[in-house]
Amino acid sequence: MKEKVDDFRWTLANKELVPIMIGGMGVDISTSELALEAARLGGIGHISDAMVPTVTDRHYKTKYSKDKQDKYKDNKLNFDKSKIKFDITELKKATRTYIEGVVSKKKGPGKLFINCMEKLQMNAPRETLKARLEAAMDSGIEGITLSAGLHLSSLELISDNPRFRDVLFGIIVSSVRALKIFLARAKRVARLPDFIIVEGPLAGGHLGFGLDWQEYNLKTIFKDVLKFVKEKGLNTPVIPAGGVFTGTDAVDFLKIGASAVQVATRFTVTKECGLSDAAKQHYFKANERDISVSMLSPTGYPMRVLLNSPGLTKYVRPNCEAYGFLLDKAGRCSYIDAYEKAEKIAKENNTPIIVEGKVCLCTHMRNYRIWTCGHYTYRLKDTSHLLSDGNYQMLDAKHVFQDYQFSTNHKIALPAIIKESDSKSDQVLARVV
Ligand SMILES: Cc1cc2nc3c(=O)[nH]c(=O)nc-3n(C[C@H](O)[C@H](O)[C@H](O)COP(=O)(O)O)c2cc1C
Repeated sequence: MKEKVDDFRWTLANKELVPIMIGGMGVDISTSELALEAARLGGIGHISDAMVPTVTDRHYKTKYSKDKQDKYKDNKLNFDKSKIKFDITELKKATRTYIEGVVSKKKGPGKLFINCMEKLQMNAPRETLKARLEAAMDSGIEGITLSAGLHLSSLELISDNPRFRDVLFGIIVSSVRALKIFLARAKRVARLPDFIIVEGPLAGGHLGFGLDWQEYNLKTIFKDVLKFVKEKGLNTPVIPAGGVFTGTDAVDFLKIGASAVQVATRFTVTKECGLSDAAKQHYFKANERDISVSMLSPTGYPMRVLLNSPGLTKYVRPNCEAYGFLLDKAGRCSYIDAYEKAEKIAKENNTPIIVEGKVCLCTHMRNYRIWTCGHYTYRLKDTSHLLSDGNYQMLDAKHVFQDYQFSTNHKIALPAIIKESDSKSDQVLARVV
């Protein structure tokens, strides 16, 4: 009887894989180290193309964001950001530098993918999305997961790229309806997706549901999507995501027809994850009441966050001259509107600026100050040891990956206890960051 994930394999593009995908976590929370580790262990890892120019600046000491900020510095105090544009050539260069660097380090039998969010409209949705997708394909990435949006014209935008039929494409949906709409458009370029991720309401990041997310259930949606795919005569792999917390949760889905599972939250407390060590401790220590789904993201999608994220109470001035990833095609962002209103009230009353209802996602995600998380973050404390100083022992991605792969009966293997003196450097970091 099959009772652990390792009893299953899936074949994608003629490669046999461990059926575990680590989902993309933007802005460099799913780092290249994390993605490469998943690929090394025989699964699939994702980097993310969210805010790539600033991620490239951080890793390669380039100056894409500073150059953009300098170019538009005279606009800093202006709330009209419509003329703040990305230079498409520079955007492509930044994306290529980042992805080529990661691809060149790939080892092992698994695969390396990139997560690409449509909702980053960057004040020129079509042009910037085309540039990001093309740069990813030209950099040798093996797969692209299209997320955060319906991606109605994404495939058409890149259909003349020489790797269009070679790169693996996946789409993230949260309903059969969304999948139908995507497939109708994909048909125009005769390019079916190579995999379909069904993301349920317990996932981290942005959700494809309303604030009534509690009324939905991943298993039901997954079964609906699988049934629809079979009825269409397709054998596209279908992959559930959101709340798969133990290896046995994964097995439950693999037994009913999932080709693999996509997971993320359990990797937020690994050394390879991009969050600061201090933030990782907040993830470990979170209780259910510390996690909330709200409309604070300017994207218009609900987002799940830890309520003690420092960015929730830091009302920064919109910094679109340097970033501007969420500016829509008219150059607007709902955080700018909220900030402008707050500034007016503050001036009239001679009080500090307090922005209601929205956060500056660009600035805060870039600085890891909005801690988006999955619903089961409050269970992370059960996955490691509490140390004598009140912090939790950090995990290795390999440990978490293999726990998914080999565990049975919903058991979660705790890591080997490291001598507390050995973990001192981690603890010092955790206190000062
Ligand atoms: C910290 C964090 C950041 C995330 N960021 C993104 C993202 O940028 N794009 C995306 O499509 N999904 C994002 N997700 C969703 C994951 O890729 C994944 O599908 C989902 O969280 C899996 O559920 P789990 O976290 O319960 O395992 C994020 C999840 C987390 C926990």
